[in-house]
Amino acid sequence: MSKFWILCSSVILALSVATFVVAESQGPPEVKYTPKMGTVTFQHAAHQSYTDCATCHHTGDFAQCKSCHGVDPQAPQAKDAFHQLCKDCHKESQKGPTKCKECHIK
Ligand code: HEC
Ligand code: HEC
Ligand code: HEC
Ligand code: HEC
Repeated sequence: MSKFWILCSSVILALSVATFVVAESQGPPEVKYTPKMGTVTFQHAAHQSYTDCATCHHTGDFAQCKSCHGVDPQAPQAKDAFHQLCKDCHKESQKGPTKCKECHIK
């Protein structure tokens, strides 16, 4: 390989690593929860345009919700936290599902 191509490929590699890091920090495009009640499919990417990150990631970092909810006795149970967060906004904005079976799909 010529020096030119080695340079080109390292630039391309650096760019794709940068893109990967940016995409990664936005979190997954979609999150699926699979409780017995029925699968909840959460469009994470779409929801990022409905409100600020901190509305949901209220601790100032992006740690998994269940690393505290269900573990830390100060934090409400995951089920209650999710229901409050998700349903309250859907009710207030009159958009998005508010009934059990609209969210929990068997
Ligand atoms: C409507 C609520 C909501 C909004 C708004 C939101 N997120 Fe999330 N995000 C979640 C949920 C729920 C998860 C799944 C994590 C879990 O269950 O622990 C998640 C996961 C993540 C993860 C992966 C965390 C991990 O360790 O698995 C990252 C990173 C992230 N979000 C970044 C962001 C960024 C950046 C924004 C703003 C541009 C944002 N989120 C906006 C709810 C939200
Ligand atoms: C580092 C620990 C931690 C993480 C991570 C965390 N929480 Fe919390 N959360 C708490 C604690 C503690 C409380 C109760 C005190 C408070 O309101 O700050 C709380 C309160 C809440 C409340 C309000 C409940 C009420 O009764 O007022 C909601 C809703 C909530 N969390 C949702 C989430 C969601 C969704 C995620 C993930 C995107 C998340 N939390 C991540 C610790 C955490
Ligand atoms: C700050 C407001 C807000 C919060 C918080 C929120 N949503 Fe939504 N959600 C919306 C809006 C607005 C829509 C409707 C989008 C449309 O109809 O174009 C929606 C739509 C949905 C839909 C229908 C499919 C879709 O994505 O369009 C599902 C399922 C959903 N939300 C699940 C959740 C879950 C699960 C949570 C909690 C982790 C959550 N939402 C938190 C605002 C919110
Ligand atoms: C806006 C979407 C949404 C609506 C509406 C909703 N849920 Fe949920 N529900 C969730 C999410 C997200 C979780 C968290 C799933 C997890 O932690 O795996 C959850 C968790 C649960 C769990 C706990 C499952 C477990 O294994 O811990 C039960 C039970 C439940 N919901 C029942 C209901 C019932 C009954 C209704 C109607 C009164 C309802 N849900 C309405 C999104 C919703």
